[in-house]
Amino acid sequence: MSKRYFDDVAHEWDGMRESFFSEAVRDKAFSIAGVQTGKVAVDIGAGTGFIIEGLIRKGLQVIAVDQSEAMLKEMRRKFSSIEGIDYRLGEAEKLPISDEAVDYAFANMYLHHVESPPKAIKEMMRILKPGGKLVITDLDEHPFEFLRDEHHDRWMGFKREEIKQWFREAGFKNVIVDCVGESCCAQSRCGSEYADISIFVASGER
Ligand SMILES: C[S@@+](CC[C@H](N)C(=O)[O-])C[C@H]1O[C@@H](n2cnc3c(N)ncnc32)[C@H](O)[C@@H]1O
Repeated sequence: MSKRYFDDVAHEWDGMRESFFSEAVRDKAFSIAGVQTGKVAVDIGAGTGFIIEGLIRKGLQVIAVDQSEAMLKEMRRKFSSIEGIDYRLGEAEKLPISDEAVDYAFANMYLHHVESPPKAIKEMMRILKPGGKLVITDLDEHPFEFLRDEHHDRWMGFKREEIKQWFREAGFKNVIVDCVGESCCAQSRCGSEYADISIFVASGER
């Protein structure tokens, strides 16, 4: 299913990603988190390292988690000259990270692929140190069915109120859900539909 899809597109993901959304998404996530050099950050559903690359530039210690071996392999190849990246194969509901281990957790364009978004958010809470922050960037609710078939999206975006509720139910404080000010854009394969979906940024503190 989605794992096989991401294994298949791993070698071309960077080009696809650039056509979907820009680096402004990552910048917004980092500014909301207030990232500090030397702290430990994890990127869940890291893909080929879009968020990881930015975190390294900012001098954080990084852990990259993904379900797809091919995505992690592609990231290793890209960052082969960089030491210290901790690559971990893992699943949303059982992250390969111990309790209270990280200062920040990021997840970009990951939540709409997981089976249970509320469970995934709870699991991200578990791995944060007290005072640690979770920042999720993802799609607002949208009507574009073709993204399910062509990109294996499981959820057609989210209502900001439901995201807020899931953060609160997981125990997060200071929950904020706001606009990134950017869209995710994609053309359907047959060319008849063009999706232009606003992106939200959700943050909370443990
Ligand atoms: C749309 S890609 C985004 C990749 C990266 N975050 C980026 O911004 O370029 C979604 C990623 O989440 C991973 N993923 C999807 N469902 C997952 C799950 N249940 N557990 C772990 N990773 C998952 C996929 O393998 C894929 O690499």
